[in-house]
Amino acid sequence: MKIEFLKSTILSELEKPTTKIEKLQSICDFLKQEISYYDWVGFYFKNGDKEELKLAQFSGEPTEHKIIPFGKGICGQVAVSNKNFIVQDVSEQENYISCGWKVKSEIVIPIFKNKENIGQIDIDSHSVNPFTDQDEELLEFVCEQVSKIV
Ligand code: SME
Repeated sequence: MKIEFLKSTILSELEKPTTKIEKLQSICDFLKQEISYYDWVGFYFKNGDKEELKLAQFSGEPTEHKIIPFGKGICGQVAVSNKNFIVQDVSEQENYISCGWKVKSEIVIPIFKNKENIGQIDIDSHSVNPFTDQDEELLEFVCEQVSKIV
């Protein structure tokens, strides 16, 4: 993974004079395009005062899971644990919401603003066991930068 190139391109996308929605969309599109095993990239954010996540921008196949209650699935678990969650093989995870038979693995990294968990980036992959420490490093960087613009 060309992590320095990926980080610097993310920074320049965020510096462009575009809206928040356009910035989040361009990050999704860029990550999906650049990383071969990222097959779906999306942002979920806390839905107002509700104990649920709401889908924001994404790149990849449309999903019916636009609202996810806290605690449900990989995403809902991260909303309450405040911790990165890497599932290298979704068939081994019981609390999982399937977005299609092609998805084999998933990584979710929380976004913090003023120490509060406000949302997350969610990546689905069609490969088993694709994620390394570099994915965590890159996606934590993305979440830190995104927290500055949301
Ligand atoms: N698989 C997720 C649901 C969201 S989709 O991956 C887009 C989960 O278990 O929370």
